[in-house]
Amino acid sequence: MNKQKNLLVVHHTKSGSTMKMTAAIIKGAKKTNINIRSISALKASSADVFWCDGLILGTPENFGYMSGAMKYFLDEIYYDCLEKKEGLPYAIYVKAGNDGTGAIVNIEKILSGLSFKKIQDPVLVVGDLDKIALSRCEELGHLMAAGLIEMIF
Ligand SMILES: Cc1cc2nc3c(=O)[nH]c(=O)nc-3n(C[C@H](O)[C@H](O)[C@H](O)COP(=O)(O)O)c2cc1C
Repeated sequence: MNKQKNLLVVHHTKSGSTMKMTAAIIKGAKKTNINIRSISALKASSADVFWCDGLILGTPENFGYMSGAMKYFLDEIYYDCLEKKEGLPYAIYVKAGNDGTGAIVNIEKILSGLSFKKIQDPVLVVGDLDKIALSRCEELGHLMAAGLIEMIF
């Protein structure tokens, strides 16, 4: 029998919007029987990355970049994970006021340095977080979890 799969969701929020996206992602992933760890970017560690079979990262865009907390997480894990988790499936979700591209581009640059594998385009929500945006998050969580279980990534 195949080993049970593990999904890590690492997130940061300042005023709560990204956390609502996180909750929707977890709701989607919970439609499967995957193990889920949902951890703040200030608390997650390389041990969590070693544990997981798939990674989802969520951040607001701040000053044209990912949040400081998300950058802290990536700084923390980078050298521990370098050449040790190549091919790790990942996806990103970003909440922004009017742009979001700076956060996405810079996270992707770092994860490409780690040779992690992007499984779908980021979910970027600019402005209002409406039902459609939250359902896109739910779909992302479900797609990632189902794909890991079915070993399609
Ligand atoms: C300090 C600060 C800097 C921000 N910089 C940007 C930015 O560069 N680009 C953008 O699109 N939105 C920017 N925003 C807007 C936030 O990305 C947006 O309000 C987001 O929904 C916050 O997410 P949160 O509720 O999860 O903290 C900024 C907000 C703050 C507080």
